[in-house]
Amino acid sequence: MKIVKTKDYEELSRKAANFIAAQVIMKPNCVLGLATGSSPMGTYKQLIQMYENGDLDFSNVSSVNLDEYKGLNPENDQSYRYFMNTNFFDHINIEKCRTFVPNGLEPDSDKCCAEYDQIIAQTGGVDLQLLGLGRNGHIGFNEPSDVFESKTHCVDLAPSTIEANKRFFQSEADVPRQAYTMGIRSIMMAKKILVVVSGSDKADALAKAICGPITPQVPASVLQLHPNVVVVADEAALSKMP
Ligand code: F6R
Repeated sequence: MKIVKTKDYEELSRKAANFIAAQVIMKPNCVLGLATGSSPMGTYKQLIQMYENGDLDFSNVSSVNLDEYKGLNPENDQSYRYFMNTNFFDHINIEKCRTFVPNGLEPDSDKCCAEYDQIIAQTGGVDLQLLGLGRNGHIGFNEPSDVFESKTHCVDLAPSTIEANKRFFQSEADVPRQAYTMGIRSIMMAKKILVVVSGSDKADALAKAICGPITPQVPASVLQLHPNVVVVADEAALSKMP
Protein backbone atom coordinates (compact mmCIF):
# COMPACT_ATOMS: atom_id res chain seq x y z
CA MET A 1 0.00 0.00 0.00
CA LYS A 2 1.34 3.40 -0.95
CA ILE A 3 0.45 6.41 1.20
CA VAL A 4 0.63 9.91 -0.22
CA LYS A 5 0.46 12.61 2.43
CA THR A 6 -0.84 16.02 1.43
CA LYS A 7 -1.01 19.21 3.43
CA ASP A 8 -4.69 19.83 2.79
CA TYR A 9 -7.81 18.85 0.86
CA GLU A 10 -6.89 20.98 -2.13
CA GLU A 11 -3.59 19.19 -2.64
CA LEU A 12 -5.24 15.82 -1.97
CA SER A 13 -7.80 16.51 -4.70
CA ARG A 14 -5.12 17.51 -7.19
CA LYS A 15 -3.02 14.41 -6.53
CA ALA A 16 -6.01 12.07 -6.67
CA ALA A 17 -7.18 13.64 -9.92
CA ASN A 18 -3.70 13.10 -11.38
CA PHE A 19 -3.94 9.36 -10.65
CA ILE A 20 -7.30 9.13 -12.37
CA ALA A 21 -6.15 11.28 -15.28
CA ALA A 22 -3.14 9.00 -15.77
CA GLN A 23 -5.48 6.00 -15.89
CA VAL A 24 -7.72 7.63 -18.51
CA ILE A 25 -4.74 8.68 -20.63
CA MET A 26 -3.10 5.24 -20.43
CA LYS A 27 -6.33 3.41 -21.23
CA PRO A 28 -8.94 5.67 -22.86
CA ASN A 29 -11.61 2.95 -22.67
CA CYS A 30 -10.97 2.19 -19.01
CA VAL A 31 -13.61 1.38 -16.40
CA LEU A 32 -13.60 3.72 -13.42
CA GLY A 33 -15.20 2.66 -10.15
CA LEU A 34 -16.56 5.85 -8.60
CA ALA A 35 -17.68 7.09 -5.21
CA THR A 36 -19.88 9.90 -3.95
CA GLY A 37 -19.64 11.97 -0.77
CA SER A 38 -17.51 14.94 0.28
CA SER A 39 -14.13 13.26 -0.13
CA PRO A 40 -14.04 12.91 -3.95
CA MET A 41 -15.80 16.20 -4.77
CA GLY A 42 -12.55 18.14 -5.10
CA THR A 43 -11.11 15.35 -7.24
CA TYR A 44 -14.08 15.57 -9.61
CA LYS A 45 -13.67 19.35 -9.82
CA GLN A 46 -10.02 18.92 -10.79
CA LEU A 47 -10.90 16.32 -13.43
CA ILE A 48 -13.56 18.63 -14.88
CA GLN A 49 -10.94 21.37 -15.07
CA MET A 50 -8.55 19.04 -16.93
CA TYR A 51 -11.35 18.12 -19.33
CA GLU A 52 -12.20 21.79 -19.92
CA ASN A 53 -8.54 22.54 -20.58
CA GLY A 54 -8.61 19.87 -23.29
CA ASP A 55 -6.24 17.56 -21.41
CA LEU A 56 -8.65 14.68 -20.80
CA ASP A 57 -11.13 12.79 -22.95
CA PHE A 58 -13.79 10.64 -21.25
CA SER A 59 -15.66 9.68 -24.42
CA ASN A 60 -14.62 6.03 -24.20
CA VAL A 61 -14.63 5.69 -20.42
CA SER A 62 -17.22 3.59 -18.56
CA SER A 63 -18.01 3.88 -14.87
CA VAL A 64 -19.65 1.87 -12.13
CA ASN A 65 -20.57 3.55 -8.89
CA LEU A 66 -20.20 1.92 -5.53
CA ASP A 67 -23.62 2.45 -4.09
CA GLU A 68 -27.07 4.01 -4.07
CA TYR A 69 -29.74 4.61 -1.45
CA LYS A 70 -32.60 2.15 -1.70
CA GLY A 71 -35.87 3.87 -2.50
CA LEU A 72 -34.50 7.11 -3.93
CA ASN A 73 -35.45 8.19 -7.42
CA PRO A 74 -32.50 9.14 -9.69
CA GLU A 75 -33.99 12.65 -9.92
CA ASN A 76 -34.00 13.01 -6.14
CA ASP A 77 -31.25 15.50 -5.33
CA GLN A 78 -29.96 13.21 -2.56
CA SER A 79 -29.65 10.16 -4.79
CA TYR A 80 -26.16 9.14 -5.77
CA ARG A 81 -27.13 9.12 -9.45
CA TYR A 82 -28.09 12.78 -9.10
CA PHE A 83 -24.82 13.48 -7.26
CA MET A 84 -22.75 11.88 -10.01
CA ASN A 85 -24.60 13.67 -12.80
CA THR A 86 -24.44 17.11 -11.22
CA ASN A 87 -20.93 16.88 -9.74
CA PHE A 88 -19.18 15.07 -12.56
CA PHE A 89 -20.90 13.46 -15.53
CA ASP A 90 -22.81 16.56 -16.70
CA HIS A 91 -19.52 18.46 -16.97
CA ILE A 92 -17.42 16.00 -18.98
CA ASN A 93 -17.87 14.11 -22.25
CA ILE A 94 -18.60 10.68 -20.76
CA GLU A 95 -21.46 8.77 -22.43
CA LYS A 96 -24.17 8.63 -19.76
CA CYS A 97 -25.30 5.25 -21.06
CA ARG A 98 -21.94 3.86 -19.99
CA THR A 99 -22.25 5.17 -16.42
CA PHE A 100 -23.82 2.77 -13.96
CA VAL A 101 -25.26 3.25 -10.47
CA PRO A 102 -27.31 0.62 -8.61
CA ASN A 103 -31.02 1.04 -9.30
CA GLY A 104 -32.34 2.55 -6.06
CA LEU A 105 -35.89 2.29 -7.32
CA GLU A 106 -35.78 -1.51 -7.60
CA PRO A 107 -37.69 -2.76 -4.53
CA ASP A 108 -36.53 -6.35 -5.01
CA SER A 109 -33.07 -6.32 -3.42
CA ASP A 110 -31.98 -9.68 -4.82
CA LYS A 111 -32.93 -8.63 -8.34
CA CYS A 112 -31.23 -5.24 -8.07
CA CYS A 113 -28.01 -6.73 -6.69
CA ALA A 114 -27.82 -9.60 -9.20
CA GLU A 115 -28.40 -7.17 -12.06
CA TYR A 116 -25.67 -4.85 -10.79
CA ASP A 117 -23.15 -7.68 -10.44
CA GLN A 118 -23.94 -8.61 -14.02
CA ILE A 119 -23.38 -5.03 -15.15
CA ILE A 120 -20.01 -4.92 -13.39
CA ALA A 121 -19.03 -8.22 -15.03
CA GLN A 122 -20.14 -6.95 -18.46
CA THR A 123 -17.88 -3.91 -18.21
CA GLY A 124 -14.96 -6.34 -18.10
CA GLY A 125 -13.85 -5.27 -14.63
CA VAL A 126 -12.85 -2.08 -12.89
CA ASP A 127 -9.43 -0.65 -13.79
CA LEU A 128 -9.31 1.99 -11.07
CA GLN A 129 -11.61 2.10 -8.07
CA LEU A 130 -11.96 5.40 -6.21
CA LEU A 131 -13.00 5.08 -2.56
CA GLY A 132 -13.81 7.36 0.35
CA LEU A 133 -13.64 6.11 3.93
CA GLY A 134 -16.46 6.17 6.46
CA ARG A 135 -15.75 7.26 10.03
CA ASN A 136 -16.54 3.72 11.12
CA GLY A 137 -14.18 2.27 8.51
CA HIS A 138 -16.81 1.51 5.90
CA ILE A 139 -16.06 1.44 2.17
CA GLY A 140 -18.95 1.77 -0.22
CA PHE A 141 -21.75 1.02 2.22
CA ASN A 142 -20.04 -2.09 3.54
CA GLU A 143 -20.63 -1.36 7.21
CA PRO A 144 -18.74 -3.01 10.09
CA SER A 145 -20.04 -6.54 10.36
CA ASP A 146 -19.10 -10.12 11.24
CA VAL A 147 -18.30 -11.10 7.66
CA PHE A 148 -16.98 -9.48 4.52
CA GLU A 149 -19.96 -9.48 2.13
CA SER A 150 -18.59 -10.33 -1.27
CA LYS A 151 -21.18 -9.30 -3.85
CA THR A 152 -23.53 -6.38 -4.33
CA HIS A 153 -26.02 -6.46 -1.47
CA CYS A 154 -28.61 -4.45 0.39
CA VAL A 155 -27.42 -3.03 3.72
CA ASP A 156 -29.03 -1.50 6.75
CA LEU A 157 -27.07 1.69 7.27
CA ALA A 158 -25.24 1.97 10.59
CA PRO A 159 -26.52 4.66 12.99
CA SER A 160 -23.17 6.47 12.66
CA THR A 161 -23.53 6.55 8.87
CA ILE A 162 -27.07 7.92 9.10
CA GLU A 163 -25.77 10.53 11.53
CA ALA A 164 -22.83 11.42 9.23
CA ASN A 165 -25.02 11.66 6.12
CA LYS A 166 -27.92 13.60 7.63
CA ARG A 167 -26.10 16.83 6.72
CA PHE A 168 -27.23 16.29 3.13
CA PHE A 169 -30.92 15.84 4.06
CA GLN A 170 -33.50 18.12 5.63
CA SER A 171 -33.59 15.98 8.75
CA GLU A 172 -32.22 12.70 10.03
CA ALA A 173 -35.64 11.12 9.50
CA ASP A 174 -35.25 11.73 5.75
CA VAL A 175 -32.05 9.68 5.46
CA PRO A 176 -32.90 6.33 3.85
CA ARG A 177 -32.25 3.42 6.18
CA GLN A 178 -31.04 1.04 3.48
CA ALA A 179 -28.70 1.16 0.51
CA TYR A 180 -27.41 -1.06 -2.26
CA THR A 181 -23.65 -1.38 -2.30
CA MET A 182 -20.96 -3.17 -4.23
CA GLY A 183 -19.49 -5.92 -2.08
CA ILE A 184 -15.96 -6.24 -0.77
CA ARG A 185 -15.04 -8.81 -3.39
CA SER A 186 -16.19 -6.54 -6.23
CA ILE A 187 -14.12 -3.71 -4.76
CA MET A 188 -11.07 -5.95 -4.27
CA MET A 189 -11.33 -7.19 -7.87
CA ALA A 190 -10.39 -3.72 -9.16
CA LYS A 191 -6.92 -3.65 -10.67
CA LYS A 192 -6.01 -0.48 -8.77
CA ILE A 193 -7.63 1.22 -5.80
CA LEU A 194 -7.34 4.90 -4.90
CA VAL A 195 -8.59 5.96 -1.46
CA VAL A 196 -9.09 9.64 -0.65
CA VAL A 197 -9.33 10.59 3.02
CA SER A 198 -9.50 14.07 4.51
CA GLY A 199 -9.97 15.50 7.98
CA SER A 200 -9.30 14.59 11.59
CA ASP A 201 -12.69 12.88 11.99
CA LYS A 202 -11.35 10.12 9.71
CA ALA A 203 -8.00 9.75 11.50
CA ASP A 204 -9.06 6.86 13.76
CA ALA A 205 -10.66 4.91 10.94
CA LEU A 206 -7.67 5.47 8.65
CA ALA A 207 -5.13 4.32 11.24
CA LYS A 208 -7.18 1.17 11.89
CA ALA A 209 -7.66 0.53 8.18
CA ILE A 210 -3.95 0.81 7.37
CA CYS A 211 -2.27 -0.54 10.50
CA GLY A 212 -4.89 -2.49 12.41
CA PRO A 213 -5.93 -6.11 12.14
CA ILE A 214 -7.77 -7.15 9.00
CA THR A 215 -11.33 -7.57 10.17
CA PRO A 216 -14.84 -7.07 8.80
CA GLN A 217 -15.40 -4.84 11.85
CA VAL A 218 -13.19 -2.34 9.95
CA PRO A 219 -14.18 -3.08 6.35
CA ALA A 220 -11.43 -0.89 4.85
CA SER A 221 -8.78 -3.01 6.58
CA VAL A 222 -9.28 -5.58 3.81
CA LEU A 223 -7.46 -3.17 1.49
CA GLN A 224 -4.20 -4.26 3.17
CA LEU A 225 -4.58 -7.46 1.12
CA HIS A 226 -4.87 -5.69 -2.25
CA PRO A 227 -1.64 -5.53 -4.29
CA ASN A 228 -2.17 -2.05 -5.73
CA VAL A 229 -3.65 0.51 -3.33
CA VAL A 230 -2.78 4.19 -3.13
CA VAL A 231 -4.13 6.19 -0.18
CA VAL A 232 -4.07 9.95 -0.67
CA ALA A 233 -4.74 11.57 2.68
CA ASP A 234 -4.18 14.96 4.25
CA GLU A 235 -2.16 15.58 7.41
CA ALA A 236 -5.28 15.71 9.56
CA ALA A 237 -6.48 12.31 8.36
CA LEU A 238 -3.03 10.81 8.94
CA SER A 239 -2.63 12.36 12.40
CA LYS A 240 -3.34 9.14 14.30
CA MET A 241 -1.01 6.86 12.38
CA PRO A 242 1.18 4.96 14.83
C1 F6R B 1 -19.99 6.93 -1.14
C2 F6R B 1 -19.43 5.86 -0.34
C3 F6R B 1 -19.07 6.05 1.08
C4 F6R B 1 -18.27 7.32 1.34
C5 F6R B 1 -17.96 7.47 2.82
C6 F6R B 1 -17.23 8.75 3.13
O1 F6R B 1 -20.27 6.49 -2.46
O2 F6R B 1 -19.27 4.82 -0.86
O3 F6R B 1 -18.33 4.95 1.52
O4 F6R B 1 -17.08 7.28 0.60
O5 F6R B 1 -19.15 7.45 3.56
O6 F6R B 1 -18.09 9.82 2.86
P1 F6R B 1 -17.56 11.31 2.83
O7 F6R B 1 -16.60 11.40 1.73
O8 F6R B 1 -18.79 12.15 2.58
O9 F6R B 1 -16.95 11.57 4.16
